[in-house]
Amino acid sequence: MGQSIDKANIAQYIKENQNRFIEELFDLLRIPSVSTDPKFEGDVVKAAEFIQQKLKAAGADVAEVCPTPGHPIVYGEKIIDNNLPTVLVYGHYDVQPADPYELWDSPPFEPVLKGNKIYARGSADDKGQMYMHVKAFETMMHFEALPCNVKFLIEGEEEAGSENLDDFVKANREKLAADVVLISDTSIISMDTPSITVGLRGLSYLEVAVTGPNRDLHSGIYGGAVANPINVLCEMIASLKDDKGRITIPGFYDKVLTLSAEERELLNKTPFDLEQYKKDLNIGEVAGEEGFTTLERVGIRPTLDVNGIWGGYTGEGAKTVLPSKAYAKISMRLVANQDHREITSLFQKHFESIAPKSVKVKITPHHGGAPALTPTDSPAFQAASDAFQEIWGKRPIPTRDGGSIPIVALFNNELKINTILMGFGLDEDAIHSPNESYGVENYVKGIATIVSFYKHYAQKNQ
Ligand code: BES
Ligand code: MN
Ligand code: MN
Repeated sequence: MGQSIDKANIAQYIKENQNRFIEELFDLLRIPSVSTDPKFEGDVVKAAEFIQQKLKAAGADVAEVCPTPGHPIVYGEKIIDNNLPTVLVYGHYDVQPADPYELWDSPPFEPVLKGNKIYARGSADDKGQMYMHVKAFETMMHFEALPCNVKFLIEGEEEAGSENLDDFVKANREKLAADVVLISDTSIISMDTPSITVGLRGLSYLEVAVTGPNRDLHSGIYGGAVANPINVLCEMIASLKDDKGRITIPGFYDKVLTLSAEERELLNKTPFDLEQYKKDLNIGEVAGEEGFTTLERVGIRPTLDVNGIWGGYTGEGAKTVLPSKAYAKISMRLVANQDHREITSLFQKHFESIAPKSVKVKITPHHGGAPALTPTDSPAFQAASDAFQEIWGKRPIPTRDGGSIPIVALFNNELKINTILMGFGLDEDAIHSPNESYGVENYVKGIATIVSFYKHYAQKNQ
């Protein structure tokens, strides 16, 4: 492309176009692209088309909406020279459901700017973060200064388990060939302490149904003589952890990678204020597996949580009923080198084995995903670190996040490409919660940091 990336020019362009960059993001945030609810199917397609158009407008040679059996995948590319390295940008344009709507201070799909933060569902996860890449691309194209090839893979099913992305990646190996994957869908420690995520947890998610008697019974006539499936389910769930907070499923920990004392020490040097953490969440104490710190419990240890539980009578007033059925949705967050399919089947076997004869158990696995660790000794990681140094004035700290982005392991295993998790969110963004937000400063600095990444990455490959 001839021109080189000039820091002052880039900063000026971002500043001059900041309002438009925000307005465009607002337009995207107004599209309620909730991937898990069929009611929003048309909006999901609209969001895909929006991104396709913006990629095209920014100067992509290819920008297409690729249909899948589920929601479409947006693919874009700008190849400037086959001898130059290629960056594959991944992001997602789908969002979590906004329920419960009544807990939002302003409607989730009517973005507003308050106190220099953008409030809307998807503002941080991941529309705001994904769109920074489109605007960074536009900026480099404007100066004819794109220093390497770029490909965009923006999916619409991340929040639903990326079910069709696996097949798309496997069927398009050549199209997606790249030297590094760049993703902004994670967070930094704080505005003063930038960080790069180097570990993500995996996930096994399933639903259990426990059936007792063949119909709801009078809790007086039968109570005490017939097993209550809700009571049974609670006992079964309670038994899945011992008094040290360890999961009791046989074989569950067999493949968990243990860290050396030095690695743990390093991890625990990450700035973290436990008192502030408790205050933020309004809790009296933290809880978890004995012998591990909060950073370790989230970063390097697997866990099991009930995400929802229901059954019996939950309406107004009282109804004396011994229910026939009880249900729970259960997630297990996994770490390297646990295999989510294996863990799902271990759970299934164990849960069936602990069920008393008084009930029948049915287990329905939902989606899963592999955990991921990303290397820190690559030129791409160094480039990301240099980019933070340039724009934030500090080297980023490597961190391990508790959330999951299943596609990272797939890129690694299927395409043999490493990922850089260069996210710019903050814990206070409240992703997946009511009043999700994303800081304007994060958005604008993120765009500058991405441009800087390209510059440093291309330099290292000269
Ligand atoms: N962006 C998040 C994951 C995330 C957030 C990782 C913050 C690290 C820090 C992603 O959109 C997400 O929510 N993933 C799901 C997994 C998926 C299979 C539904 C999750 O972690 O629950
Ligand atoms: Mn996300
Ligand atoms: Mn999410």
